[in-house]
Amino acid sequence: MAAPPSPSSRALATAPCLLLLLLLSLHAAGPAAAAMDPAEREALLRVMEAVSSDRDWREAAGDDPCSSPWPGLECKPAPGGSGVGAGAAARMHVARLDFGVPPNPTCKDTATFPVGAFALPELRALFLVECFKNPDAIAAFTLPPPANLSSSRLQQLSVRSNPSLSGTLPPQLASIGSLQVLTVSQNALVRGEVPRGLGALKSLVHLDLSYNSLTGTIPSRLGELRGLVGLDLSYNSFSGPIPSRLGELTQLQKLDLSSNNLTGGVPGTFTRLKSLTFLALGNNGLRGRLPSGLSELRDLQYLIMENNPMGVPLPAELGNIARLQELRLANSGLSGSIPETFGLLSSLTTLSLENNNLTGRIPAGLSRLKRMYHLNLSKNGLDGVVPFDGAFLRQLGRNLDLSGNPGLCVADRAVVPDVGVGVCSAGDVARESSAAAESSVVGRVVRGEVARGRWPAALIRPAAVALCCCLLL
Ligand SMILES: *[C@@H]1O[C@H](CO)[C@@H](O)[C@H](O)[C@H]1NC(C)=O
Ligand SMILES: *[C@@H]1O[C@H](CO)[C@@H](O)[C@H](O)[C@H]1NC(C)=O
Ligand SMILES: *[C@@H]1O[C@H](CO)[C@@H](O)[C@H](O)[C@H]1NC(C)=O
Ligand SMILES: *[C@@H]1O[C@H](CO)[C@@H](O)[C@H](O)[C@H]1NC(C)=O
Repeated sequence: MAAPPSPSSRALATAPCLLLLLLLSLHAAGPAAAAMDPAEREALLRVMEAVSSDRDWREAAGDDPCSSPWPGLECKPAPGGSGVGAGAAARMHVARLDFGVPPNPTCKDTATFPVGAFALPELRALFLVECFKNPDAIAAFTLPPPANLSSSRLQQLSVRSNPSLSGTLPPQLASIGSLQVLTVSQNALVRGEVPRGLGALKSLVHLDLSYNSLTGTIPSRLGELRGLVGLDLSYNSFSGPIPSRLGELTQLQKLDLSSNNLTGGVPGTFTRLKSLTFLALGNNGLRGRLPSGLSELRDLQYLIMENNPMGVPLPAELGNIARLQELRLANSGLSGSIPETFGLLSSLTTLSLENNNLTGRIPAGLSRLKRMYHLNLSKNGLDGVVPFDGAFLRQLGRNLDLSGNPGLCVADRAVVPDVGVGVCSAGDVARESSAAAESSVVGRVVRGEVARGRWPAALIRPAAVALCCCLLL
């Protein structure tokens, strides 16, 4: 919406040529013409003064702070004020404020949470990063009353890495209906429960509440955030079960609930999260079987679930999640054997199954996984001859760990780096020789096929890291 035209611009609108000339001169001369609404300017200066003492903000602002904005201040004309007729009237407004990390304004020792920022009529994004850091002046996380927020156009609120910010998540967050990205992360003192009302933020695309001290259960109303693409609640103290309604978040690509105190099982509804690429549930108190149908998560690349007392056999179905790159299930009370189906996971780079109760042979198919980079099977009850050839052992190098499996042995001392396994006796080798010969033939055939279409390993890891970074954003 455009600001009301000033009297002078209304007169000019009847003379388009003059208007054009005026616009051109505005562009060159800047400050004099489209000065910010004085009330908005005053609101901005009060926010600046509440947070930062880097400069004399009134002096820096002049009549129109948007004519030469400092780093951390972004101005935009109000949307909808376009067209030549409205051009002269379109005032600039504060659209984004960044505080904390230079070149943005740094926060003073006595900075308070800038509630006044929510009165800026066109503010779309507010960032407070590494802002509240003074251990002797704990700042309170506060927001204006709901009535003051209902007309807010804020789309992104980011409150990150503020060790001296304290309080609970203000329930008024639920009144900022325009929010698309809400990040309240790495504020160790922010505690209490997640306001149930957050389920009303229907425009939310990303919700990141990681690394705080939040408690209570995960509100099942979060299942109403149907547009959510990323949900990160990791590294808090959430307890109780994972709400099955999270299975309604069918747009979700990244779900991280790791490092909490969650109990119960993985909800069966998770098989509906068909867009998931990253699922992390590690370091909780989760138990029992994974829902059958997980292999329907065709895009899942990361399944990270270590340190849960699952106490079940390692499910063969995991071998059917074709795109898996990382499978982490260490220290999860898993029993049974390593399924042969794991040899189908041709994108796998990391398989971490250490410290479980796995028994039986290592499937020879694992050595056909040409992208495998990290394989940890240590501290289990695996036995028999290790079915890996020299090429596979060299591919993994020090990232292979088979130690702590007393029944395992390797057939050939020459090709063995330090994987924590002894050399087999003649008896072991004789018993296994026919099977080993068979697998090495298969291995050669598959290697030939894979080599033709193979990515250089040097490219795969940066690509995986880049993907990870995108997901985190
Ligand atoms: C809320 O709005 C009222 C009325 O516009 C105003 O007087 C008050 O200062 C506002 N409160 C905050 C914290 O912005
Ligand atoms: C998890 O719960 C247990 C028992 O209720 C408690 O002792 C422990 O501190 C909790 N852990 C976290 C990270 O909150
Ligand atoms: C393996 O199983 C035994 C008993 O069956 C149990 O005592 C032990 O804790 C289990 N180990 C792990 C790592 O789950
Ligand atoms: C394998 O896991 C164990 C923990 O059980 C750890 O100590 C070891 O460093 C890991 N090995 C590799 C190669 O990552």
